[in-house]
Amino acid sequence: MGILKVVVCTMGRISTFRSYQFILLVAATLAVAAFYYFGSERQNFSSTTKRIKQSQSSYNTNRNDADLTLDTRLTDQPHEHGEQGGEDTGALVDPHFHVLMMFTKIDKNRSLQEKFRVAMLSMVKHGDFLEEEVLVLHFVSDPASQELGQRMLQEVLLDATFQYEVVFHDVVDLTHKLFPIVEAMQKYFSAGSGAYYSDAIFFLSVAMHHIMPQNLTRIVQVDLDLKYRTNIRDLFQQFDHFPRGQSWASPERCSPSTAHIHTFWQYRKENPSTRVGEPPPDGLPGFNSGVILLDLRAMRASALYNRLLEPGNVAKLADQYRFRGHLGDQDFFSMIGMQHPELFYVLACGWNRQLCTWWREHGYREVFQLYYRCDGPIYIYHGNCNTAVPDD
Ligand SMILES: *[C@@H]1O[C@H](CO)[C@@H](O)[C@H](O)[C@H]1NC(C)=O
Ligand SMILES: *[C@@H]1O[C@H](CO)[C@@H](O)[C@H](O)[C@H]1NC(C)=O
Repeated sequence: MGILKVVVCTMGRISTFRSYQFILLVAATLAVAAFYYFGSERQNFSSTTKRIKQSQSSYNTNRNDADLTLDTRLTDQPHEHGEQGGEDTGALVDPHFHVLMMFTKIDKNRSLQEKFRVAMLSMVKHGDFLEEEVLVLHFVSDPASQELGQRMLQEVLLDATFQYEVVFHDVVDLTHKLFPIVEAMQKYFSAGSGAYYSDAIFFLSVAMHHIMPQNLTRIVQVDLDLKYRTNIRDLFQQFDHFPRGQSWASPERCSPSTAHIHTFWQYRKENPSTRVGEPPPDGLPGFNSGVILLDLRAMRASALYNRLLEPGNVAKLADQYRFRGHLGDQDFFSMIGMQHPELFYVLACGWNRQLCTWWREHGYREVFQLYYRCDGPIYIYHGNCNTAVPDD
């Protein structure tokens, strides 16, 4: 069963542009240089998107007027441990909560540094763990970014009331391990920055089960441009909602992505009655990878999922859906989600409340709200495509 359970919610590509893109009382940063294996950017990704971001960064700042009224009146959920899904079995077995972020090319980018600060400070502010638990923060980084990151972490983690560990993974090392696995899909979903080899890192989540140590069984990958409104520990309880034992539950849908409409345009033209690219709750809008829960154990165990990673099968699906993208893992997950929705558990949109409104002004004004809306509590804001995140 299980499988990938990946996922994320929502609105996919609207925000997508990768705009884009884890305690008792330790005060100082433990810079553990680790050797897990890993790789790099995400935040900086997509150069294709760069122009998109550029064209909008100007207007987003003063044009963040999409309907957030619902969001702002929502309140946080209670923070009680275990309240959401009964026991957190993962935590009982292993008190480590692993979170991974791409942290490359940060050293020269003030904007990214500011986003990172907002994300970490809000995570620390709301972070609440049991005494024996440890939040393990993994950063995929380059040497210059790591150095800066270590300095910033000392500051942003100062008020942490929980135990944490910090692990830096070398992006080059990870890329080296990833490339052979994801090379075939890069042809279909890469940003096309020209740096074909190094783009492999954008597919980290897709193949993490192969390159992370076997004793790492669950990990949450998050973008840097997030703002937490709730305890990140609660996010891990979503793992317990993944269907167990039997077949895949039908996912509860959340907000989607207009970009899908765009991405699947040719396919939709030829298949007018398809759910592919349609808005929720009935459609299959695709995923946004700003917040991804990866059940690595299930991914390793799934024959189906691993078959889908094989070059011939990637090509087959991409042709079937006429899929060409530039958003890396997000495209791959979105595509296989069309064919095998049972592999995914879809988080409520409030776990990845994307704020990017780019598509509203670029051809999808009429349908935008169908994809953009997010009813229910907002746990994490995602300021994708450089969109400003509301103040508390
Ligand atoms: C810095 O990062 C932002 C995303 O937060 C991106 O839009 C911008 O292009 C980057 N700037 C440089 C100089 O790379
Ligand atoms: C996982 O295995 C690695 C070696 O592969 C070891 O260094 C690490 O301590 C192990 N972690 C846990 C939580 O057992």
